[in-house]
Amino acid sequence: MTDAIVATSAADSTARTAPKVVPRHVAIIMDGNGRWAKRRFLPRIEGHRNGAKSVRAVVEECRRLGVRHLTLFAFSTENWRRPQDEVGGLMSLFVQHLESELELLLKNDIRLRAMGDTARLPPAVRDMLRRNEERTAGLQGMDLILAVSYGGRDELVQAARKIAAAARDGELDPLAITEESFGRYLYLPDVPDPDLLIRTSDETRISNFLLWQLAYAEIVVSPVLWPDFSRDEFHRCLNVFAGRSRRFGLTQEQVEGE
Ligand code: FPP
Repeated sequence: MTDAIVATSAADSTARTAPKVVPRHVAIIMDGNGRWAKRRFLPRIEGHRNGAKSVRAVVEECRRLGVRHLTLFAFSTENWRRPQDEVGGLMSLFVQHLESELELLLKNDIRLRAMGDTARLPPAVRDMLRRNEERTAGLQGMDLILAVSYGGRDELVQAARKIAAAARDGELDPLAITEESFGRYLYLPDVPDPDLLIRTSDETRISNFLLWQLAYAEIVVSPVLWPDFSRDEFHRCLNVFAGRSRRFGLTQEQVEGE
């Protein structure tokens, strides 16, 4: 029943002790960029800019530890309603980041994938996402999944539309729809559900992120604002996860008997 990877002794030889159990899929709600900037009397975009540095550190650390999938909530469907200058600044930052980090992806065998309503993104962001997706398509060390213009309800609605159309066209029997077949209509059907969801800045909401996929995820809340999220804080979150008992609806006795 466990779907996480037991860390190898090779990983233990590094400076930070590797957690006993490394999640196969980590999802992160990167929160607190605005507050980080406000505390320093800086414009909000400076918070996002510094948040991009934390992205690099966490990507590198996940790859080093053997996490197979890392999903980052970079921009939600609700974020489109933010002030225009912040939305524009974030879009420029995505273009810059995707441009500058391609080398890191190639060097570390990391495949970039996007999930969300990417048709709403400015062409420059879409082109850069597509370029990085194409250039890294064959890489197998880790999937870095960027949720951009992403909403969990939006994803479920677009899945429902496709399912309804298939039923209308006689290609699908509504009674034959199962949890497994439903999952095939989501953005990235081949990616397993997250084992661990981290949200920073002490916020405890899911905020419309991966509503279907987070059904059994362990949630760890970090008090740290995202731009200050360090490798050490990431390790602290991983250790909290490693100490949790995951039961998937079973009893503790059943889990121990497996
Ligand atoms: C939430 O903080 C953060 C975002 C809406 C954007 C996340 C984007 C980055 C970390 C930039 C770089 C990302 C990539 C993938 C290059 P907030 O603005 O809601 O913070 P607040 O709650 O303190 O106002």
